[in-house]
Amino acid sequence: MDETIATAPDELVRRHLQPGRTLLAVLHAIQDEVGFVPSGTVVPLAKAMNLSRAEVHGVITYYHHFRSEPPAAVTVQLCRAEACRSMGSEALAQHIETRTGCRFAQHRHDDPHAHAHGGGPLALESVYCLGQCALSPALTINGTLHAKVTPQKFDALLAAATTVAHTEEAA
Ligand code: FES
Repeated sequence: MDETIATAPDELVRRHLQPGRTLLAVLHAIQDEVGFVPSGTVVPLAKAMNLSRAEVHGVITYYHHFRSEPPAAVTVQLCRAEACRSMGSEALAQHIETRTGCRFAQHRHDDPHAHAHGGGPLALESVYCLGQCALSPALTINGTLHAKVTPQKFDALLAAATTVAHTEEAA
């Protein structure tokens, strides 16, 4: 059993399989419950849905939304698309890397580890448009959107997010 989750993968799959539910819907439900899609769910999912393991694994790795390992305590997604680039997102990316000592990972379909964060303290991800082009540069921290982000603003946001993450860990 995956030691990072309280529920056995078989049980997770059983709980979220419902008549008429698609593989995507089941994967969403599993990730909503435990924060990621444990690798141990691939075999029972494949069996239950009459698919090959490769098909299930392919869906998990194709969609950026799905993680195969627990998420980092703090995840920063920085927009690297055109409008944000023109407003300094690349300089901001450099600032973030220098400030945190971490590097940006880019989601790539051919990289099976692109979704993995392993539950570490911080993950930096590049994304391409957050729908805030008029308020660029934009980023999210643990899913919360922030616009017109300056290096100073980022430092304050990161400090706040890190405090929340530590508080939750200690609870
Ligand atoms: S280009 Fe960055 S939010 Fe659209």
